[in-house]
Amino acid sequence: MNLTVIGTGYVGLVSGTCFSEMGNHVTCVDVDEVKINGLKNGVVPIFEPGLEAMVLSNVKSGNLHFTTSLESSLSNSNIVFIAVGTPMGEDGSADLQYVLSVAKQIGELMDKPLVIVDKSTVPVGTADKVRTAIQKELDSREKNIEFHVVSNPEFLKEGAAIDDFMKPDRVVIGADNEYALGVMRKLYAPFFRTNERFIEMDIRSAEMTKYAANAMLATKISFMNEIANICELVGADVNNVRLGIGSDKRIGYSFIYPGSGYGGSCFPKDVKALARIADENNYSAELISSVEKVNDNQKLVIANKIIARFGDDLNGFTFGLWGLAFKPGTDDMRQAPAIYVVKELVKRGAKIVAYDPKAMTEAKEFYLKDTPEVSYVASKYEVLNNADGLILLTEWKEFRSPDFEEIKSKLKHPVIFDGRNQYNAFDLENNGIEYYQIGKKRG
Ligand code: UDX
Repeated sequence: MNLTVIGTGYVGLVSGTCFSEMGNHVTCVDVDEVKINGLKNGVVPIFEPGLEAMVLSNVKSGNLHFTTSLESSLSNSNIVFIAVGTPMGEDGSADLQYVLSVAKQIGELMDKPLVIVDKSTVPVGTADKVRTAIQKELDSREKNIEFHVVSNPEFLKEGAAIDDFMKPDRVVIGADNEYALGVMRKLYAPFFRTNERFIEMDIRSAEMTKYAANAMLATKISFMNEIANICELVGADVNNVRLGIGSDKRIGYSFIYPGSGYGGSCFPKDVKALARIADENNYSAELISSVEKVNDNQKLVIANKIIARFGDDLNGFTFGLWGLAFKPGTDDMRQAPAIYVVKELVKRGAKIVAYDPKAMTEAKEFYLKDTPEVSYVASKYEVLNNADGLILLTEWKEFRSPDFEEIKSKLKHPVIFDGRNQYNAFDLENNGIEYYQIGKKRG
């Protein structure tokens, strides 16, 4: 099949590349010339395991192309994916300007029948808006060309995106006619051995499925973080409670890890947007709003523990920091707890020496750009030199079993603030390390 994928962000680039891997002829389009030129030469702008190799091999085989010209790409395609960003607008709703501007361009340029697929996360009702925007342009060109708009939300996880796409738990397709459904079935058939994972539904339900899935997962995390905070107050250990409840199949072990709150490009934005969607329909989404509130507070739990230990005024204190990315396996720092913790400590006069295996460039160039109090080192043990304590905020594997003797000998105070509950409190305390974690009081 011949595909155009508009937008070479996370979703667009991964989808386009994986479709080309399955033998489709794919052209990825983006307005960013620098990015497109880089991609043509195999320079992948994001870190995602396996992506670069897959881009390179499909560019080489001629299945994957990159261009800034939507016009040339459209004339060779029968399916078009819209995978441009839907950033959070000022009022918390999803900003549709990029999606609708792309829809307008499709209407201006298309010269043959197309199936147009919304892959970006968009509020319920967006497919109708996309259809209207395209039709308006066709009408003004006095063209009568058939087209179908389909919703196909993306569920990939950063750091495991290729695997998630190539071996999906499910593919959700919202369509309003059999022809469009047939095209999508054929496109996705190579990704499944049986078709029970291909879930067909109406367009609005497909759009809602994405928000409901992300809000459900975010709810599990915020629920567990709230339980963690209560555990700490009543002298329980959330690590035990997690095992205790996860063993119930109805609850399950996944997404109940307490920590420093969820970050990333999806959960914070989608939870907020869902609350807005409810609002706009005169429904006050109490649970969804609380999920967000709990998460905002959770990002600062570790900073508050540091303040409780070292005092309000942190002038003269330096902390070593392990982990900047919002989760391991990515260089992405969007809404990462590290941003909030670092800013809170710096506001009180502290200095931070940070190390992250992948996200230091992101931190330096964007998220902590105006924070000269943060410096960066090339390895995990270097953050410890002259530091008053160690903070862990991303559970990268290389932080999992460090040399605690080295930590103890280098830190001024042998104290660890662990925002991801990576270590055994009993062992560390016995080894003379003052260990603070989420959801379990010391001692
Ligand atoms: C998520 C969804 O998983 C994916 O289906 C959707 O399409 C986009 O959003 P992603 O943002 O890449 O994917 O990350 P994910 O691995 O789901 O983690 C999200 C956040 O939740 C991270 O900050 C992580 O640290 C946090 N988290 C996750 C917890 O705090 N506890 C958990 O038990 C699980």
